Amino acid sequence: MPRAKLFAVVVFAAIGLAGCFGGGGRYMIGESKAYEASLYRQNCAICHGPEGDGKTLDDGTRVPSLREGEFKAKTENQIYDQIANGGNGMVGFRRQLSEREMRLLVELVKRDLRGQ
Ligand code: HEC
Repeated sequence: MPRAKLFAVVVFAAIGLAGCFGGGGRYMIGESKAYEASLYRQNCAICHGPEGDGKTLDDGTRVPSLREGEFKAKTENQIYDQIANGGNGMVGFRRQLSEREMRLLVELVKRDLRGQ
């Protein structure tokens, strides 16, 4: 029995690692033809990086990764609110983007980048 258990642990660890390093599971914004990916490239990449990994801007602003870390905006509504209103170094998009476009970006963040 312990053997089977150990085997299961090893298998799950391997799957987990493959997910992190294999590249197979990583959603590539730059290769996506989805509309929300093009919205991301036009509006968000300049600060969050081409693949949403975050970066430090020239003025020293730390822009967080949208893929991993301690998320401030956890629920769909919180993510939507951040996109619409911005805050803390982020511009708000409610004047540039439609309701539907912002909802699509919420999905991109949650589903494609965070895998939730
Ligand atoms: C001017 C630079 C800038 C642009 C452009 C920008 N962001 Fe941000 N974004 C930030 C900064 C800085 C933060 C951190 C805010 C904070 O700490 O409260 C942030 C935070 C976020 C968060 C919350 C992250 C968390 O911890 O949960 C989300 C989601 C987000 N941005 C999505 C987007 C999307 C989608 C776009 C494009 C529509 C975008 N951002 C465009 C700078 C930017």
